[in-house]
Amino acid sequence: MTDADPFDTVLVVDFGAQYAQLIARRVREAHVYSEIVPRDMPIAEMLAKTPRGIIFSGGPASVHVEGAPSIDTAIYDTGVPVLGICYGAQLVAQQLGGEVARTGSGEYGRTALDVVAGSPLFSGLPTAQDVWMSHADSIVAAPSGFRVTARTGAVPIAALEDTDRRLYAVQFHPEVAHTDRGQEILKHFLYDVCGCRPSWTMVSIIETSVEAIRAQVGGEQVICGLSGGVDSAVAAALVHKAIGDQLTCVFVDTGLMRAGEADQVEDTFRRQFNVDLVHVKAADRFLAALDDVIDPEQKRKAIGETFIRVFEETAVDFEDARFLVQGTLYPDIIESGTKDAAKIKSHHNVGGLPDDMQFELVEPLRNLFKDEVRVMGEELGLPEEIVWRQPFPGPGLAVRIVGTVTPDRLEILRSADAIVTEEIKRAGLYRELWQSFAVLPAVRTVGVMGDERTYAYPIVIRAVTSDDAMTADWARLPYDVLERMSSRMINEVPGVNRVAFDITSKPPGTIEWE
Ligand code: XMP
Repeated sequence: MTDADPFDTVLVVDFGAQYAQLIARRVREAHVYSEIVPRDMPIAEMLAKTPRGIIFSGGPASVHVEGAPSIDTAIYDTGVPVLGICYGAQLVAQQLGGEVARTGSGEYGRTALDVVAGSPLFSGLPTAQDVWMSHADSIVAAPSGFRVTARTGAVPIAALEDTDRRLYAVQFHPEVAHTDRGQEILKHFLYDVCGCRPSWTMVSIIETSVEAIRAQVGGEQVICGLSGGVDSAVAAALVHKAIGDQLTCVFVDTGLMRAGEADQVEDTFRRQFNVDLVHVKAADRFLAALDDVIDPEQKRKAIGETFIRVFEETAVDFEDARFLVQGTLYPDIIESGTKDAAKIKSHHNVGGLPDDMQFELVEPLRNLFKDEVRVMGEELGLPEEIVWRQPFPGPGLAVRIVGTVTPDRLEILRSADAIVTEEIKRAGLYRELWQSFAVLPAVRTVGVMGDERTYAYPIVIRAVTSDDAMTADWARLPYDVLERMSSRMINEVPGVNRVAFDITSKPPGTIEWE
């Protein structure tokens, strides 16, 4: 960001831990714009972003191992304040002439910290506070010019600084919630050391985005695909705020959505926001494409291809449109220090468009984290059901129906799934869970209802907690909630005579069944 920008920028250098994103989010919670950059980004490129401060993240490595992640030491001569966290702290110490050693006194978890000298970071905070540690190596000698400002029972150097050069390092993790005063420590760095203004607020983010969208599209026509999910909904609402009637939204209704979802899109965009909405009812096309398809990847492919064909046919009517809105989020574009893990599923992004479509992209959410997108959605007046909707796979209910997808089986799953959602919401658990839904397996089981033998489908309840869908734990749902779901499904959904609860975490399971 430049001086004329309303936002100051702090860079978070990613040293390969999962903490870089968390640090960036905490900085933004302090209303300062942050960007994650890879550690091998040339210093000149970092400086071109005119950062007011730079934070080194933690990392899984030891500074001593061969090929340990490092950074160009020219960073320390730029005059931009630096805060090293955990691995980042050890790197600062080591690169500037201090010493880091495997002392055998690593610390893990909640640890008592003693602040032993006045420091801008700890200003106004108690000298004794709990912090969260996770390190095997320790800093055993501070570089010259540095002063030790905090210690713990196990390590004599837990925080150090060179206030003249504005270089700071903390062995603990201020970004995690278990560090009681962590956010205040970060704020001291951001406001007092770096001089950042707390201007990254939702009102100003929206204002700036609206101006940027207007500047990008001018008087041209713009189209936006709505999926029913939060990202495309917020992107559409934001672009609509910026350019009103120049926007047309296209909602391809695959017939594979959850109960009530299509109506919700109609209600919100057509009736509440007065958006020019094209609702393409294509359920038959998708069902035909799925006829007899059993293999999960084949299902994804059939749905993806059908989507593209339907969209193409619809887009013929929009030959004047030059721009296409996409709900890309910041985590999708972070060029991180960690390489992507192997892909287990194709995650075919339904909504992916034909390569030969010559649209210029408008990606108004590309700098935002998911939680910021939700706050923006609320600020723009989108209903809670959309803003807080749990993630839903592009191929929809088709990958929750093991085996063939037929209208009957879709109806069974959709009704059972609605019961899961209703009961989870009633129990106040909806926002706590990453996802909660029903799965329809391809087997039937014997039961007895009244005096009759039944031979019908079981429904599997799946509910998981997760931060990013890479790993997940099965949710310990209260028995009474499970009990209500089970009895409602059996009583209200014809074709279901048994209910099971999936107690597999990821890994080894995946979240979806297909
Ligand atoms: P798994 O099942 O791989 O899912 O643990 C991780 C997350 O991704 C979602 N998911 C998909 N999303 N297209 C999507 O857009 C897909 O084909 C797809 N498959 C899984 C899943 O719901 C979970 O949030």
